Formats: sequence, structure tokens, C-alpha cells
Amino acid sequence: MQKRELPSVVKIRKRIKTNRLLLRPVTLEDAMDMYEYASDPQNAYYVFPTNKSIEETRENINNIFLKNPIGKYGIELKSTGKMIGTIYLLNIDEPNRNAELSYVLNHNFEEQGYAIEAVRALENIFFREMNFVRLYARHTLDNRRSESLMERGGMVREGIARQEVEFRGEMVDMCYHAIVQSDYRDLLM
Ligand SMILES: CC(C)(COP(=O)(O)OP(=O)(O)OC[C@H]1O[C@@H](n2cnc3c(N)ncnc32)[C@H](O)[C@@H]1OP(=O)(O)O)[C@@H](O)C(=O)NCCC(=O)NCCS
Repeated sequence: MQKRELPSVVKIRKRIKTNRLLLRPVTLEDAMDMYEYASDPQNAYYVFPTNKSIEETRENINNIFLKNPIGKYGIELKSTGKMIGTIYLLNIDEPNRNAELSYVLNHNFEEQGYAIEAVRALENIFFREMNFVRLYARHTLDNRRSESLMERGGMVREGIARQEVEFRGEMVDMCYHAIVQSDYRDLLM
């Protein structure tokens, strides 16, 4: 049987347009927009230590987004050009065609459907262009908004990895959700 050529992750699209959003690389020009939510303890709670200064945000942009931009996007509102969050693929495992999904949205822009719009756009690229097979995400048990987003994105709850990560000083359980390519095809039908 002929071996099918796998697409390389370096070919992941850099810009993705949706109705209201442009997903595009994060740059240092986004520092103010990112600092706005990264410096808010409530907003940063589940994802990273609260940023104490704009310099810290710039350093994070440099280390996380500029050094390894593959699969990482700023979520820009097309109507204003403001960056209202990020969405990205982590732990991209090309041989096994799976990756982890992560995201954060500025609180002021929650509950308007922007996150699900970004998730669906990324799923489309992931399954249809990259031809990857499994997209997973995990949340701490109390993070209901994130769990709801995973479910709305068609992810199925798989189970709990006990005491998997250190979170704010203690070892906590993580709940896994995933969508596989056949689920995605079913969703489209
Ligand atoms: C997780 C997170 C991105 C979810 O954001 P969100 O605002 O709940 O998700 P969406 O942008 O998809 O908005 C969905 C809500 O908008 C409503 N909505 C309004 N207009 C809508 C539209 N046009 N389309 C879809 N939904 C719409 C939905 O009804 C839903 O409301 P509900 O929460 O009352 O059910 C956000 O809470 C966040 O950034 N949290 C902190 C970071 C974090 O926890 N990251 C994950 C770590 S595991």
C-alpha cells in the first residue's frame, strides 16, 4: 500500500478569517491588548501567572509566540483591529497527528461567541487542511466555561487524569476532552 504523505506542521496556515475574527500571528504590537487581560487576575487565573508589567507581557510574547509561532494565533476583532485573546495548538505530535488546544479570551469579550468561532475555525484547518486526527484539550475541574467551550466545539469528555499538573501550588486533576476526525465529519453532516 502506498504510504500517504503527511502534511508538515510548518505548513499550518498563518492567517484564518471567520465572520467576525482574524486569527493571525501574535506580534509585539499586541502587547498592550494582551496586557489588558493578562494583568487581570480573574482573567489569567486558569492559564498563566498574572502579568505584573507590560515588560513581562512582552517577554511572554517573545518566548511563547515569537520563538515558536507554529499553530499559535492572536484573536483579532475584524471590526476594530483589537486583539482580544489567543488560541493555539500545543504539543503538536506530527507522527501521531494529534495536538492540544488552548485558548484565552479577554473577559470583556466573553459571552459573545468569539471563542467558539475561533475554535471552529481552527478545527476546520486542523482536520481538513492539516489532516490531523485528534484534537484534545484539558481543564481543571472547576473551569466550567472552558468545559462548555470544549463541548460546544464537539469535544467528548474522555476522563480525568488525577493530579496531573501543579496548579497554583497544589497538584490538581485535569479533565480531558477530545474530538477526532470522524466526529468532526459527523458534525459537518
Ligand atoms: C474559556 C473561554 C475562552 C470561554 O469564553 P466564552 O465567552 O464562555 O465562550 P464564547 O466566546 O464561545 O461565548 C459563548 C457564550 O456567548 C453566547 N453567545 C452570544 N452571541 C453568540 C454568538 N453569536 N455565537 C455563539 N455564542 C454566542 C453563548 O450563548 C454563550 O453564552 P453562555 O456562556 O451564557 O452559554 C473564556 O472563559 C476564557 O478565556 N477563560 C479564561 C481562560 C481559560 O480558562 N482558558 C482555558 C484553560 S483550560
